[in-house]
Amino acid sequence: MAGPLLGVTDLEVAYGRVEAVRGVSLEVAKGEFVAVIGSNGAGKSSTMKAIAGVIKPRGGSIRLAGADVTGEPAHAMVRRGLAMVPEGRQVFADQTVEDNLLLGGYARSQESAAKTARLERAYQLFPRLGERRTQQAGSLSGGEQQMLAIARGLQSEPELLVIDELSLGLAPRSSTCSSRSWSTSTRRAWPSSWSSSSQGKPWPSRAVPMCSRTATSSPAARPPSSPGTRG
Ligand SMILES: Nc1ncnc2c1ncn2[C@@H]1O[C@H](COP(=O)(O)OP(=O)(O)OP(=O)(O)O)[C@@H](O)[C@H]1O
Ligand SMILES: [Mg+2]
Repeated sequence: MAGPLLGVTDLEVAYGRVEAVRGVSLEVAKGEFVAVIGSNGAGKSSTMKAIAGVIKPRGGSIRLAGADVTGEPAHAMVRRGLAMVPEGRQVFADQTVEDNLLLGGYARSQESAAKTARLERAYQLFPRLGERRTQQAGSLSGGEQQMLAIARGLQSEPELLVIDELSLGLAPRSSTCSSRSWSTSTRRAWPSSWSSSSQGKPWPSRAVPMCSRTATSSPAARPPSSPGTRG
């Protein structure tokens, strides 16, 4: 595949007259771990939803693995290899942990051995979920629900995993929108579960600041060096 795994160009999202995203461009290479950061209402979730096909963009283009996927619906994007962990987790509260995971893999092989292998990978990544596989998802703790939401996304074996609010709703308090302010305020809240789920990549390699509905990724927008310890 030539070019980036994900390419977003001049993305625009609107809800009726409310303009949520204007002129957002960013790229993510295969294997890259990129954070999109910005203040409340900057348009991060809207950008993620448009990329995942949950909402249709008003303008711009989205390319995944070289294909123009602009406006394709979410179920088609899952089959193309994109999974989204939505803001607020949105696990199926009245279903068990295991049933939530099985739903995440609906677009992949439904052979019993394949389903079992996918579940076992999730339980290796998050042993806590394995201990609670028969528990109703709605009775998990908040952090456990976040683990389940991430594990459910991984069940579709995505090429690209888009996670909205990995850092549990913390936005930079600083009025300057920069990768440095984000790094400082987010470091303390980084979910400990992520270090085991990111397969040796516990910190994003690049942050894309999203200020006032616009963003453009650039190699200069890198967070400070990877923190060895938290706090
Ligand atoms: N369904 C909707 N209808 C109307 N306006 C919306 C809708 N969803 C989002 N918006 C507006 O779009 C703008 C961007 O919202 P969005 O949720 O994308 O921001 P965000 O960067 O994810 O913020 P946060 O950090 O608070 O999660 C906001 O002004 C919001 O009020
Ligand atoms: Mg949001």
